Amino acid sequence: MSEREQWGTRIGFILAAVGSAVGLGNVWRFPFQVGEQGGATFLLMYVAIILIIGLPAMLVEFTIGRRSQRNPIDAFEKLGHREWSFVGILAVITGFIILAYYSVVAGWTIRYTGASITGAYFDDPAGYFGEVSFGIEALGFHAVFMVIAVGIVAFGIKRGIEACTKILVPAIIVLLLGLIVFGLTLEGAGEGLTYYLTPEFDALRDNWMELLPSAAGQALFTLSLGMGAMITYSSYIADDDNLVVDSGWIVGFNTAIALMAGLVIFPVLFSVGVDPADPGPGALFVGFGEAIAEAPASELIGAFFFGTVVIAAVSSGISILEVIVSFVIDHFEVDRIPATIGVGVIVFIVGIPTAFDGSILDLYDGVVAEVLLPLGMGLLVLFAGWFFTDAKDELLKGLGPATRDWLPTVWLWHIRTVILAVAVLVLILSSGGAYETLMEILEATE
Ligand code: PFF
Repeated sequence: MSEREQWGTRIGFILAAVGSAVGLGNVWRFPFQVGEQGGATFLLMYVAIILIIGLPAMLVEFTIGRRSQRNPIDAFEKLGHREWSFVGILAVITGFIILAYYSVVAGWTIRYTGASITGAYFDDPAGYFGEVSFGIEALGFHAVFMVIAVGIVAFGIKRGIEACTKILVPAIIVLLLGLIVFGLTLEGAGEGLTYYLTPEFDALRDNWMELLPSAAGQALFTLSLGMGAMITYSSYIADDDNLVVDSGWIVGFNTAIALMAGLVIFPVLFSVGVDPADPGPGALFVGFGEAIAEAPASELIGAFFFGTVVIAAVSSGISILEVIVSFVIDHFEVDRIPATIGVGVIVFIVGIPTAFDGSILDLYDGVVAEVLLPLGMGLLVLFAGWFFTDAKDELLKGLGPATRDWLPTVWLWHIRTVILAVAVLVLILSSGGAYETLMEILEATE
């Protein structure tokens, strides 16, 4: 087998991981989740979960990845626990499903970038979205996105992923800052901010059983956790990185960008009178479509906005693709280029139904965020906490003197108890929800 690649620099790794985290989850999924679940109350729970669960769970994936230097399936065998490989298989299957519909939504953003320049949706944003979101053209843009992702991943870790994310991530941040200024100058912005930033504690108490699985699902989705993306990325890093500092940067950046995106999105939705509780994947496209159409220099602002989202989607999509490709390369000893093309074609096929039917897209998304990711995360935490005896040692490498003595022990007991308990609770709560959703969809299709 050829020599395994490594990231060129530590910052290259951090940016690639930030690129994986920041994506459609922050700008497309986050607003309609916040909207469906009642605004700031959801936000509060989401931020709490990011800190209590997200950060330590990211360290779980990093220790497994760096210790094994393998893809999520072969990692378990390398660590002497072949019987756990099924968790890696689950991760790769989840990867196929996520990327399949992710690419369809990313395809919409590519289309909207072009449509901004021509002004195609300015007259009737809702009607336009209805026309183009599903059907043969949506399938075409799904193909375009997959070709871009395959093109980057085929170049490998350093020349493909690292080189691109080094440019893409700073670009996202600069563009978002510009957009916040635009959002805050719109009429009605204040109402959007209140909705977004003022939690109702009564609602939290009354609705926590519904809020928890959605907030946990969103937190895992946005941090790219529970399906081995962070195992894969950390399998290419050096031994002396301080994993705690790295994950602090990644989680911090991602959360800051999600919060910033909210600062743009809610003022915009309120200013054009789109109710964020009007659920569904169209909120971003219809709401922004209207705001942009009314703004000065609509063509420019629209292309700017949707272009930013395309960039964010590309840097995340490649991380999902890399999970599957790294497995194919390591395991079957296939060269990177044919492996990437082959995987890309299969993902494209898995995505076809979601390009034609919104309820199937919703189904893929709900199953991923509320079942597959919490399940994957729960199993990884169970493994790292109770079976992977070197987990603590692996975390210790690269830690500074101030934290060496206590941090790994606190972390280990935290994942063994708190996170595991939350994961089980989320799965119990979400399996009820998933059942109901499935029944609704079946009824609707009858
Ligand atoms: N974190 C990405 C986003 O927020 O768009 C989506 C994602 C990437 C999920 C990688 C899972 C993953 F493994």
